[in-house]
Amino acid sequence: MNTRPTILLVDPRYYDVKYRINPWMQPALWARDPQGMQWAAVQAFNELKLALQGVGCNVMVAMGTAGLPDMVFPANAAIVLDGRALVARFRYPQRQGEEVEFLKLFKGLQSCGLLSAVEQLPESCYQEGAGDCIWDAHRHLFWAAYGPRSSEAALERISAFFSQEVVPMELASERCYHLDVCFCLLSGGEILYYPPALTAKALQHLRERVAPDLLIEATEDDLRHFSINAVSVDRKLVMGKTTSRLRGILKERGYETIEVDLSPFMLSGGGAYCMTLRLDRSSAARVTPHVEAKMVTA
Ligand code: ARG
Repeated sequence: MNTRPTILLVDPRYYDVKYRINPWMQPALWARDPQGMQWAAVQAFNELKLALQGVGCNVMVAMGTAGLPDMVFPANAAIVLDGRALVARFRYPQRQGEEVEFLKLFKGLQSCGLLSAVEQLPESCYQEGAGDCIWDAHRHLFWAAYGPRSSEAALERISAFFSQEVVPMELASERCYHLDVCFCLLSGGEILYYPPALTAKALQHLRERVAPDLLIEATEDDLRHFSINAVSVDRKLVMGKTTSRLRGILKERGYETIEVDLSPFMLSGGGAYCMTLRLDRSSAARVTPHVEAKMVTA
C-alpha cells in the first residue's frame, strides 16, 4: 500500500503581489522589482518541491491561471478527507475566480479516480479550505476556523459532508487570518500554536481536548517567520527559515526542521503549509506505527 503523502502544489508562473487582502501582503515591495521577485518565487517554489519530495511526498503540480496570483496557495482551495473534496468559497473578490479553476481541477482528479466526491459550498458560505480547517488524525476531528475569511455557517456543512466532528476555532485577529498561520498539527499529536491568535472560547476548546504537554506555544517571532505554517511528515517539518528558539524546541521533541527560504511568498502572507494541499488524508489512518503493527497481527 502506498502511504506516501500526496501533495498538490500550484505552479508559481502567475504568482505576484499586486493587491492587499491580508496585513502581511506587500505590493509596494513587490512593485520595486517584479521580475526579480518572480524569479525568486520560482526558485523558492522549486526548493519547496524538492524539500517535500525529500521527506517522501508524492508531489503533483497543477498549472496556475493568469490573473489569479494566489492560486499558488492551494491549501485554500478545498478541504480533502477520505477522497472527498469540499471546494472553497473565497471571501475576497480577488480570489473568487479561483473557485471555478479549482473546481475543474478537482473534477479532473475525480475522473482519474484520485477523488471520489467533489462538491462546493453554497455561494456566500465562505470557507477557505484546509487553510481554515485542519484534520486531526490523533483526535479524529477537524479544527475549523471562522472569522476573517471563513464563515461560522460553513462549520455544519463541513461536519455533514465528511460526517466528522468539527471543533469551532474563532480567530481573534486579521494578522492570523487563516488557522494555518497560527496552528499546526505535528505527527506525534503535538499542536504548535500562537495563543493570541485564538479567542478565549477557541483556546478553551483546544485545552479541553489536548493535554498540556502536547501544546507547544509559538512566539510572535515564530509567527513572523511563518514557522507555524509548516508541513509535517513523520518527524520532519518542512517550513520557511525559522527561529533558533523554535528549531531547538522542536529538536528536543524529536523533530527535524527542513527549512526553505520562502520570503517571496511571505510577501503575500503565505508559508510552506498553505502552498500545499494534502490529497490522501484518511480518517481511518492509524496514527502510530505501534497501533498499525497490532492491527496487522489481530
Ligand atoms: N495572499 C493570500 C491570501 O491572502 C495568502 C494565502 C495564504 N494561505 C493560507 N492558508 N494561509 O489569501
